[in-house]
Amino acid sequence: MKESNPVTEPIGQNLIKIISNLCFSVFVFSVLIFTVIAITYQPPDPWLESAPALTKLFTESENATFQNDNSIIKTGEDLQSVLPPAAVRAIPITEAVIEKKEEQIANSTPPSACRELNLVNCSDPRVLIAVEKFNLKAFKSIAFFEYQTPVNGSKPNECDVAWKFRNKKEKSWRKYRDFRRFKLSIGDDCTYKVVHPGGWHSGINARRPRNKVNATRSGVTGKAKVVPQVRDDEINDTIPSLGSEMNFRKGRYLYYSRGGDYCKGMNHYLWSFLCGLGEAMYLNRTFVMDLSLCLSASYSSSGKDEEGKDFRYYFDFEHLKEVASIVEEGEFLGDWKKWDKSHRRKVPVKKVVSHKVTPMQLKKDKSTIIWRQFDAPEPENYWYRVCEGQAAKYIQRPWHAVWKSKRLMNIVSAISGWMDWDFDAVHVIRGEKAQNKELWPHLDSDTSPDALLTKLQGMIQPWRNFYIATNEPFYNYFDKLRSNYKVHLLDDYKELWGNTSEWYNETSLLNNGKPVEFDGYMRVAVDTEVFYRGKIRVETFYNLTSDCKDGVNTC
Ligand SMILES: *[C@@H]1O[C@H](CO)[C@@H](O)[C@H](O)[C@H]1NC(C)=O
Ligand SMILES: *[C@@H]1O[C@H](CO)[C@@H](O)[C@H](O)[C@H]1NC(C)=O
Ligand SMILES: *[C@@H]1O[C@H](CO)[C@@H](O)[C@H](O)[C@H]1NC(C)=O
Ligand SMILES: *[C@@H]1O[C@H](CO)[C@@H](O)[C@H](O)[C@H]1NC(C)=O
Ligand SMILES: *[C@@H]1O[C@H](CO)[C@@H](O)[C@H](O)[C@H]1NC(C)=O
Ligand SMILES: *[C@@H]1O[C@H](CO)[C@@H](O)[C@H](O)[C@H]1NC(C)=O
Ligand SMILES: *[C@@H]1O[C@H](CO)[C@@H](O)[C@H](O)[C@H]1NC(C)=O
Ligand SMILES: *[C@@H]1O[C@H](CO)[C@@H](O)[C@H](O)[C@H]1NC(C)=O
Ligand SMILES: *[C@@H]1O[C@H](CO)[C@@H](O)[C@H](O)[C@H]1NC(C)=O
Repeated sequence: MKESNPVTEPIGQNLIKIISNLCFSVFVFSVLIFTVIAITYQPPDPWLESAPALTKLFTESENATFQNDNSIIKTGEDLQSVLPPAAVRAIPITEAVIEKKEEQIANSTPPSACRELNLVNCSDPRVLIAVEKFNLKAFKSIAFFEYQTPVNGSKPNECDVAWKFRNKKEKSWRKYRDFRRFKLSIGDDCTYKVVHPGGWHSGINARRPRNKVNATRSGVTGKAKVVPQVRDDEINDTIPSLGSEMNFRKGRYLYYSRGGDYCKGMNHYLWSFLCGLGEAMYLNRTFVMDLSLCLSASYSSSGKDEEGKDFRYYFDFEHLKEVASIVEEGEFLGDWKKWDKSHRRKVPVKKVVSHKVTPMQLKKDKSTIIWRQFDAPEPENYWYRVCEGQAAKYIQRPWHAVWKSKRLMNIVSAISGWMDWDFDAVHVIRGEKAQNKELWPHLDSDTSPDALLTKLQGMIQPWRNFYIATNEPFYNYFDKLRSNYKVHLLDDYKELWGNTSEWYNETSLLNNGKPVEFDGYMRVAVDTEVFYRGKIRVETFYNLTSDCKDGVNTC
């Protein structure tokens, strides 16, 4: 950017005066701002952070329609962390922890016959210590937990090691798995050293066997029990049932029937869903939840709205179950029907036909079910209308309840892990915006291959791993950058969701055995999350072009 405003006068009294006045004004202003922030601070609302223009759209106009710009809203794991429940809170392995362990070993176990054999003994605890130390040095952005005892690799002096980890950038307490193959050497004093670390998921001998007969879940009782084969032993997003009829009758429910939000974009969906869930929390009620989503045409490959998508493809239902009181709609309706059939007194239901009835007015209602219906014409039938006006002061959207699906995040981890968490990234927004010269006059040329190469050379070191998150559909568009960087694109990792992948298997299970397409929303979600994990991150708006994110004159 050129800023040529030559100072015509030499520095004199006047200028100094002006500058000091200016400084004072800036000071006063920043104190003011700070005070305002301090007074009005609220937990981060991703809409305020990532899409102010859209928030305005939603909160101000009465006929709000959502314009999809292919951006992914930040979810709970990207935002401020809430303190995890004690049961899952874990302390990462630090230098100090390792040293303590080292001391214990030195005191108790004599060095094995390493020197005579000159062979690495993978079960020697010193091997694990060498690997732990190596990992801490090599992966600064990762917190490590729960190492398993190393096992033999494919050759002598190789050991396969498995562990769990968390990226420090992720605010959720979810942990992921990695297992790598290490080549070690033995020093004179029987110490081990890593001479060659393997890549992401290279230590296949350490991968946990899938069909453990006596697999245990370390529960409260600690009692061993046979668990059905669960692929990722951390994901349990089965649909909970209410159990007995009495349980059903004792509950208090908030039921939203399907409204105009159905088949709108995913950000609209979240905005609405979290309004409903927020109201349920405000009313101390269980929220009745339809797990079946409709993917809007803007994200589907068919170009049409696609019904019958499972919430669990996109979001973490297990986490939601833990932090919010919810019941699946099918279970709920079944139990309701059963009760009404077998009892003379029907379940008390309060029907609410307009969003103008506020949550505050419903607070005193004792009906078992509060049933909000959304039959008015658009836009009166959007769920989020419930949270407008006065209600906005009482209802908080529980953003912390929504995390992205762990199955998707496993893909994110795999891609970042392949690059050993050591990569820079750029987010190149093209697509419709690049074609719309009226609102984004320079975007297309500023994101052309030549312009990109020139700009990026000032920001990114040559031959770095470089991840390009983009909505540009043409794979070879970025080929020019390959002369300077090790370019990675989402499609380079197709096998992670291809028909031989874990993701494919797991999502098919949710879909009655039928394959699930890796759709446009999933693509953008994974792309964006990998981008967040880059060390240097270059954004299209602010860094590559002076056009504004939301069109001419919006910034
Ligand atoms: C509704 O949309 C129309 C067309 O976009 C616009 O002219 C009108 O002002 C809008 N009404 C309100 C209340 O925002
Ligand atoms: C390897 O180390 C383990 C643990 O220290 C020990 O029990 C075992 O005997 C060792 N094996 C060999 C072949 O030295
Ligand atoms: C591991 O390898 C060592 C030598 O390379 C061998 O003595 C040992 O039996 C192997 N352990 C297992 C469990 O295969
Ligand atoms: C599995 O558990 C059963 C009883 O719970 C026990 O008899 C059996 O030996 C165990 N098998 C293994 C491989 O530990
Ligand atoms: C999964 O979670 C449900 C509760 O939502 C629990 O009842 C069930 O036992 C869990 N299944 C496994 C395999 O842990
Ligand atoms: C919800 O429950 C909490 C604690 O159980 C109570 O403090 C609050 O008043 C209840 N709110 C309503 C609307 O009943
Ligand atoms: C996986 O897809 C490939 C090509 O798309 C196909 O040739 C192959 O048969 C498929 N494999 C399975 C197990 O479905
Ligand atoms: C997926 O399932 C198929 C058939 O059940 C199995 O052969 C394959 O190994 C599984 N792949 C993964 C990555 O789990
Ligand atoms: C991108 O722009 C932002 C805001 O101007 C700036 O803070 C950041 O350092 C820039 N990033 C790079 C890689 O230059």
